[in-house]
Amino acid sequence: MTADTSLLFEPLRINDALTLRNRVVMAPMTRNRSPDGVPGEDVAAYYRRRAENDVGLIVTEGVAVDHPAAVGNAGLKEFAVPEMFGDAALAAWKHIVDGVHQAGGTIFPQLWHQGVMRLAGSGRYPEAESMRPSGLWGPPGRRTSSAADYVEAMLPPTRAMTDGEIADVIGAFARSARNAKAAGFDGIALHGGHGYLFDVFFWAETNKRTDHFGGDMAGRARFATEVIRAIRREVGADMPIMFRFSQWKQQDFDARIAETPDDLARWLGLLVDAGVDILDASTRTFDTPAFEGSDLSLAGWARKLTGKPAMAVGSIGLSKDLYQRPSEEEAIAGAGLERLMIRMERGEFDLAGVGRSLIADPAWAVRARTGEPFKPYTVEATRQLY
Ligand SMILES: Cc1cc2nc3c(=O)[nH]c(=O)nc-3n(C[C@H](O)[C@H](O)[C@H](O)COP(=O)(O)O)c2cc1C
Repeated sequence: MTADTSLLFEPLRINDALTLRNRVVMAPMTRNRSPDGVPGEDVAAYYRRRAENDVGLIVTEGVAVDHPAAVGNAGLKEFAVPEMFGDAALAAWKHIVDGVHQAGGTIFPQLWHQGVMRLAGSGRYPEAESMRPSGLWGPPGRRTSSAADYVEAMLPPTRAMTDGEIADVIGAFARSARNAKAAGFDGIALHGGHGYLFDVFFWAETNKRTDHFGGDMAGRARFATEVIRAIRREVGADMPIMFRFSQWKQQDFDARIAETPDDLARWLGLLVDAGVDILDASTRTFDTPAFEGSDLSLAGWARKLTGKPAMAVGSIGLSKDLYQRPSEEEAIAGAGLERLMIRMERGEFDLAGVGRSLIADPAWAVRARTGEPFKPYTVEATRQLY
């Protein structure tokens, strides 16, 4: 059966300044191919290709904010994560944004600070200490996506961030957002999920602070809300801010920040009050019910509780989720689009975030629109980063 996807290709108004041409969003996906933090012509062509092929909104790979501990990686220069600071990187981003705009697309950078997920001594600035709200990576013995030796390296407690360090990171986000605006981006996306810095402030298992950045939900959300407010001051009232949040963490697949819809209302309400315009509810399977007693997805709850545009993401058009390896090779392209459209048509959420399918096939959205057969999904294709 071929799904009627016409609603996916209707415009969506975000605010006075921005209307997306359709509801297909390329989910943020790290490429690790920006030597010295500067995204090159290959990166420009990669994003432009998706814009030329009907993607409504591109959220870039995670981009390091202007703070030395923002990202770590294998430490190999050519495999670096791109940065949102420095003349060379900012000129390169302007070129990328121009290309996407010429193709009729819209693009937000995903601003990223890895916090506790960064291995001390790694990245372009190995001397910088990893940032942890309470010195904790996460509780041991949980179901995790991380390799055992990595977990072992991360588990020893380090020191907690000082107030001065928190203020520095807030400043880094604000500066980087200002840089992104100057480069011409259409909005700002923030990576608030998956166990990275915002998320370990939200999570009571990693945030044991007794100052105003810890304690109840308002305290644990304060780091994020201060960043959002600082960004809002820099970019003005019109530039949309999109916030990715997740219950799951790489440190613990079964973690939950919100046990109930009321908890979720409180959490997301704080983010929206601070200035968030679009909620990106990161899950591994987009239509998993978020709470018992209702089949509403996490994105569905986000929209219902806040009234803000919400994006669902996780195995949209793919039969296997992100961590189902190695059988991922057999994932069926185009699977489950009927399930997606039923939920979108009933207004459960507004945007469809597509990850791996859009790395594997730059023309995925065209096929979803025209009904042309999907290309078979292969992990090999996702590695080519074409
Ligand atoms: C190679 C790869 C890199 C990713 N990098 C990021 C990232 O930088 N930031 C982020 O928020 N999510 C990242 N993700 C998660 C995706 O944005 C998305 O949520 C996830 O892949 C589920 O969507 P999918 O099932 O359509 O692939 C990454 C996923 C993949 C496969």
